[in-house]
Amino acid sequence: SNRIMLGPLVAAIDQGTSSTRFLVFNAKTAELLSHHQVEIKQSFPKEGWVEEDPKEILQSVYECMDRTCEKLTQLNIDISNIKAIGVTNQRETTLVWDKETGEPLYNAIVWLDLRTQSTVERLINKTPGRNKNHLKHKTGLPISTYFSAVKLRWLMDNVEKVHEAVLSHRAMFGTVDSWLIWCLTGGKKGGVHCTDVTNASRTMLFNIHTMDWDPELCKYFDIPMEILPKVRSSSEIYGLMVSICLQCLGDQSAALVGQMCFKDGQAKNTYGTGCFLLKNVGTKPVMSDHGLLTTIAYKLGRDKPACYALEGSVAIAGAVVRWLKDNLGIIQTSTELEELAADVGTSYGCYFVPAFSGLYAPYWEPSARGIICGLTQFTNRSHLAFAALEAVCFQTREILDAMNQDSGIHLSQLQVDGGMTSNRLLMQLQADILCIPVVKPSMPETTALGAAMAAGAAEGVSVWSLNPEDLTEVTSEKFEPQINPEESELRYARWKKAVQRAMNWET
Ligand code: G3P
Repeated sequence: SNRIMLGPLVAAIDQGTSSTRFLVFNAKTAELLSHHQVEIKQSFPKEGWVEEDPKEILQSVYECMDRTCEKLTQLNIDISNIKAIGVTNQRETTLVWDKETGEPLYNAIVWLDLRTQSTVERLINKTPGRNKNHLKHKTGLPISTYFSAVKLRWLMDNVEKVHEAVLSHRAMFGTVDSWLIWCLTGGKKGGVHCTDVTNASRTMLFNIHTMDWDPELCKYFDIPMEILPKVRSSSEIYGLMVSICLQCLGDQSAALVGQMCFKDGQAKNTYGTGCFLLKNVGTKPVMSDHGLLTTIAYKLGRDKPACYALEGSVAIAGAVVRWLKDNLGIIQTSTELEELAADVGTSYGCYFVPAFSGLYAPYWEPSARGIICGLTQFTNRSHLAFAALEAVCFQTREILDAMNQDSGIHLSQLQVDGGMTSNRLLMQLQADILCIPVVKPSMPETTALGAAMAAGAAEGVSVWSLNPEDLTEVTSEKFEPQINPEESELRYARWKKAVQRAMNWET
């Protein structure tokens, strides 16, 4: 057969909250050659609980790999040219498995899960001055249900099998990256148990200054350090799958890399299940005074410096669309939402605060709950659809304001990516609500691209250059604000009122 000669290829496994993807890029041109996507089931065993099946996650990765390789073969592209695979993943989601049997000991507890709310409240109440930022000087994070340590604590306290495996030194903890890499490098027959600095920085057990697990933090949460994976940089070979090199990078970091935000002050916002605005702040950590997280942006090589980011995390973005589809049934497919909202072009005074997992940045309020307010007899499902899209935009505005206040410098435009950016109405609304242009790359798979770049650039792989001069210019589309700033401010002020109602829900 006529094989097409493309030179080295680099792949990415993008394991997100809602779906898994496998994508293959041409390392020379950054062109996306083929991909496959599989949706992931979520279970909600109790109110506020969110779980996924670790084996289904692994299976979905194999399925995506198989399908993509079939597609490439049909295109006459030689899959033996895949030199490296970057794993990029939903962060914080917590797993424990038995290293002898290779079996997961419980479902994966998804980052959105609220079961640790009472633990979090108890921990905060014990700190001097009831300070949720008690551990921030080391971790960059507030004490919250979001991060892995409290989820791991819950597993050790509530799941007998986990408790026993820890006592008998058979337990391994990991976020999704660690689980996948361990399985893909051999599992119980000698799999590599590791993670990278970006994922580690989301556990609350990692010291962002020393760049290693912190014994004091582990003691605070009473977590035995032997169950933790080894922490590596985000661009080095961890192990091999067949003969392909593997490494990992948290999904939001990968998007930052994929958007080429390598300079201090550059930022991107990714609209996935949640929505995450990260700004590169350079090689020194910057602490936020406005409710943002300090996290590791990336460390692209063992001997390279770590870069830090300020992050504004919004728990519910794409998840609100899935909720309108699965729970209310007002749409059959996610793409219908844009049309439905466009029918009216306004929420007609309806505000929807989707605080399903409490509120994340800048509030960090686990007890907040979702509300829909401003309803009249006139309100219909189109208005509700519009209000849901606006909610994503308003939440991003709150994060952007916090970023601007923290740095004193105002971002002049916002680089965006992620699944929801195909919704043109959303993009226009976002520009209107931020009063700055929104810029979206024409290749939407930025997260996977970033993971592939980091994997391809790893020492020993070296088929992708990360030198700014060698990086291909990304083509993009720009959405300019179209409404006047006064109207935008008025709507934003109403949104903030609605947020206050959601915050004080239980009192
Ligand atoms: O912190 C959670 C984040 O990494 C999940 O990303 O793309 O699944 O919403 P996504």
